[in-house]
Parts: sequence; structure tokens; C-alpha cells
Amino acid sequence: MKGIVLAGGKGSRLYPITLGVSKQLLPVYDAPMIYYPLSVLLKAGISEILIISSPDQLPGFQNLLGNGSEIGVSFSYASQEAPRGIAEALIIAETFIEGDSCTLILGDNLFYGDGVEMGLQKAIHSGGASIFSYPVKDPERYGVIDFDAAGDPQDIIEKPANAPSNRAVTGLYVYPNSAVDVAKGLKPSARGEIEITDVNKHYLKTGNLQVIGLSKSDSWFDTGTI
Ligand code: TTP
Repeated sequence: MKGIVLAGGKGSRLYPITLGVSKQLLPVYDAPMIYYPLSVLLKAGISEILIISSPDQLPGFQNLLGNGSEIGVSFSYASQEAPRGIAEALIIAETFIEGDSCTLILGDNLFYGDGVEMGLQKAIHSGGASIFSYPVKDPERYGVIDFDAAGDPQDIIEKPANAPSNRAVTGLYVYPNSAVDVAKGLKPSARGEIEITDVNKHYLKTGNLQVIGLSKSDSWFDTGTI
């Protein structure tokens, strides 16, 4: 199992702060933001991790984290030329993943709780594709899961005006190796991005997507806004 932290993007909602510094290097309490998603991977026992960021911001992450040998893991780095979508991380990481499965986490997502750790173990051991949902008050801001009468996921809807549930898709994804080819086969959406939702929908449609529900006793924040 390989790990990927995607830590590029524009961070435009935090301008002007993020004009000069990467969002994922900003402090959250006493640590750079990226420490939090990294610790999710490390706690899950993932020790080969690729950090992806924009070409101008990548050196900041390399200065901060080095090659990982001090803590007995391996960090490598790759750049994303432009924020062309979260699913592009899988394409950029192809040679790093090298036939393995992977866990992708967004560098601005903070998770905490037993449910996260247990859920990630379950996802990793399943060998398939898994996403994690979290109950939110404002589902229209997120990708939202639509469940059928039996409680099984039947669709994922991006920023729905009338949300079918309050279950948002978080920025933590576990994929089998086939996800690289799925991402390669995608066309950019209307907003010009290769959408991770389309990767997830591919697995949903073929009956191969596990949705792991986190509860309110776990914590999840995405740090896009002040
Ligand atoms: P977004 O929330 O889509 O974007 P953002 O946080 O950069 O910024 P904005 O305030 O401009 O809306 O991205 C979620 C996370 O994924 C964030 O950590 C940035 C990262 N990301 C990339 O690294 N590359 C990409 O192509 C995209 C779309 C996101």
C-alpha cells in the first residue's frame, strides 16, 4: 500500500495568505497543516508516501519533510503543473504506485478519531475502493452520497442544490491499482478538472465502492476557508 498526499491547488479562498505560502504549510495549532494528513497515513502503517504539490511550492515541502529517513519512512515528491483535478494525482503517481494499491489523502483535510483509524484499516484490508463519508450541516458545499431505500450508496452528486443526504465525501480515498487506468480514461469536467468523483462513480457503478461512514464522534475538517 502506497500513500499519496495531494498538497497543491490554488488555495484561492484563503487569498492573500496563500499567495505567498502553500495552504498546506500554514500552521494549524502547533504544526504545519500537512502533518495532520501525513499522520493519518503513518498511523495506518503506510511508509512509502508521495507528496504532490505545485512546482513553486514543492521545495517548501521538501525542506520541511526531507526524505523521511529520520522517522524510518520514505517520502518522495512530484509536481502537478497546474491544479487540473484531484484525480490527476493518480496519474502523476503512476510510476510511484508501481502496480500497488494506494491511499490518497488531501493535504488540507484534517481527520481525527478511532473511526478514522479503524475505517482506514478496514478499507486497506478490503483490497478494493473505499471512500469515507462524514455528516455535515451544509452538504451543498460538497460531493454528497445518495443512498437507496436499503441504505446502499447509489450516486455521488457534486454540490447538489437539494442534497439527497447530509453525508459528504471526505478527502481520503483507498484504491486498488486499477484506479490509475480509471483516472487516465477520464475527460475533464465542465470546470476543466479530472474529477475524483468520476473515479469514485466508476467503482460505484460496477458495485465495487465501499462507503465507510464516519460519525460525529470522529472529526473531519477541510481547511479551505477562514
Ligand atoms: P480544492 O478545495 O478544490 O482547492 P483549493 O483548496 O486549492 O482552493 P480554492 O480555495 O482555490 O478553492 O482542493 C482540495 C485539496 O486538493 C487542496 O488541498 C488542494 C488539492 N488540490 C490539488 O493539489 N490539485 C488539484 O488539482 C486540486 C483540484 C486540488
